Amino acid sequence: MQEQAVAWRHAGDEIGVVPTMGALHAGHDSLVARARRENQRVIVTVFVNPAQFGPNEDFARYPRPFDQDRARLEALGVDAIFHPAVDQIYPPAFKTRVDPGPLAEVLEGKSRPGHFAGVLTVVLKLFNLTQPKRAYFGQKDFQQVVLVRQLVRDFGLPVRIVAVPTVRHTDGLAISSRNAYLDPGQRQLAPAVHHAITEAAHGFAGGETDPVRLEALTRERLAATPGLVLDYVAVVDDTTLSRPAHAIPGNVLAVAVKLGSIRLIDNVVLGAERL
Ligand code: PAF
Repeated sequence: MQEQAVAWRHAGDEIGVVPTMGALHAGHDSLVARARRENQRVIVTVFVNPAQFGPNEDFARYPRPFDQDRARLEALGVDAIFHPAVDQIYPPAFKTRVDPGPLAEVLEGKSRPGHFAGVLTVVLKLFNLTQPKRAYFGQKDFQQVVLVRQLVRDFGLPVRIVAVPTVRHTDGLAISSRNAYLDPGQRQLAPAVHHAITEAAHGFAGGETDPVRLEALTRERLAATPGLVLDYVAVVDDTTLSRPAHAIPGNVLAVAVKLGSIRLIDNVVLGAERL
């Protein structure tokens, strides 16, 4: 992969990479389409990264429909699919890990210790193997975008991180590979998450800038949906992940809930035209 990527770079082509864990859906399609528009070469990586799953998480049962993914990517016209085996990325002698620091310990990181260390370690390796000028990530995994940008800044990586808006089902639920785990009843309740954050974002647009009140509004709305268990709701700065004294456009309202054993996350950028 690296030899091919270096050859493309030497030929003057800019490379866009879309890192994925496969089980591709419309959200990934929009990442690939954006990469296709902005680069001469597009590489999609398909790798279910064991290092970012906790011991009680779904690594073993995470969907791996590779033949379908390949057909989908061929139809989208990518230049390469990089689908390494686990021991190619993590051979027995592999020892080094990225330590993402304190931003990895809040929000998602609080419930998923070690998750972002695993993400940043594999992302750093995938960047080195694919030599991208630009890398494309979904805004749905907002904290992941913040931490990948931190990785790029801290290590001086020559990659621009592009965050692509979340793609939603018509009822508002953010499209995610893990939605496949929802049973029909849970699937019906799941859009409540989007409705709650949209209502809070409208509150912000209507002049409410107290982050605590915006969070309370979201919490109340979610509490009206039986079966949804709130993990966190937070209005945060999009770089420091700390709560601002007053919410301003560009701050992010992020939410995580559990529906049975299934964890759903979503977020909205306050003041953004597209809600
Ligand atoms: O967002 C994902 O699918 C994964 O966290 C990523 C970025 C591919 C790293 O394994």
